Amino acid sequence: MTDDVRTVEWAGDGLRLLDQTVLPGRVEHVVVRDVEALVDAIRRLVVRGAPALGVAGAFGVAVAMLQAEREGWDAAARDAAIARVREARPTAVNLAAGVDRAVPLVPKGVDAVVAEAQAVLDEDVRNNRAIGAFGADWITARAPDRPLRILTHCNAGALATAGWGTALGVVRELHDRGRVEKVYADETRPLLQGSRLTAWELVRAGITCLVQADGAAPSTILRGLVDVAVIGADRIAANGDTANKIGSVGVALACAAAGVPFVVAAPWSTVDLSLASGDGIPIEERDPGEVLAWNGVRTAPDAAGAFNPAFDVTPARLVSALVTETGVLEVADGETPGRAART
Ligand code: MRU
Repeated sequence: MTDDVRTVEWAGDGLRLLDQTVLPGRVEHVVVRDVEALVDAIRRLVVRGAPALGVAGAFGVAVAMLQAEREGWDAAARDAAIARVREARPTAVNLAAGVDRAVPLVPKGVDAVVAEAQAVLDEDVRNNRAIGAFGADWITARAPDRPLRILTHCNAGALATAGWGTALGVVRELHDRGRVEKVYADETRPLLQGSRLTAWELVRAGITCLVQADGAAPSTILRGLVDVAVIGADRIAANGDTANKIGSVGVALACAAAGVPFVVAAPWSTVDLSLASGDGIPIEERDPGEVLAWNGVRTAPDAAGAFNPAFDVTPARLVSALVTETGVLEVADGETPGRAART
């Protein structure tokens, strides 16, 4: 099975992004040619998902260099613009890591930076294929010998990456092996990455998809309707604590209670070995309007405030397996990324 989604592409003089804010109703692209537009696109989730942010960050360095040339900025102004891209969203470590991979190439010129960013993109697609295969092997070795009922949260598909996807890469691989009965896609409030994006990808791939309210997930798991949950990640600490879209913790807790494997699929670039545990992961808090209103119409009373963290941190003890491009770590059993990196 192929996927033809191109979330991020270099357009010669700027970065071409598939606008994920208007999916699934419209398939539209925007080309960003300045840092302000790129930072705005990242914050509004035109481009989103940890690996895709990493690719956008790397190309963002080239965007800043071209803008600096056009507008006659000095090196300090250019570097400040690059830092704005790096800090546009705080939780997904890939964004900063993508920028940091491209920055050493700046003295060599824009072409060298674009080539490095393209390498980040190409590696991501290769990594996702490997993640899909390792994840499918691990799951099929433990799951019942029949097509599986899988639950996922948010969108960790081609849209969240440079192609194929991490969690949805595992699902796509299982589907290719004839091992998917259906996927429960949590709708993923408040921005609906599950119902808008994951469902769009699954339907295009011919995979049976049931969108459910986020609040339904624990009950679906406890009722025995799910064989395995597979999610992506935005940042993983050395001990295996995993930041992902808000609501992931509830899925993990229900999986632990029901004895259902909770699988995290992510590239090594999402692992942050500088953090001993998830306590140090910065959690983005977003605009209160995202939860106080629906479709632009205020739903909460005027006097109500909001708490709108975009991510939560699942403790390592709830993560059955972490699937990366190098293999599988059984995190809950003590195979942490920090240990793997030392051996
Ligand atoms: O706010 P978003 O849409 O960028 O959040 C994305 C997620 O939480 C994904 O699950 C994560 O980045 C993994 S993407 C392969």
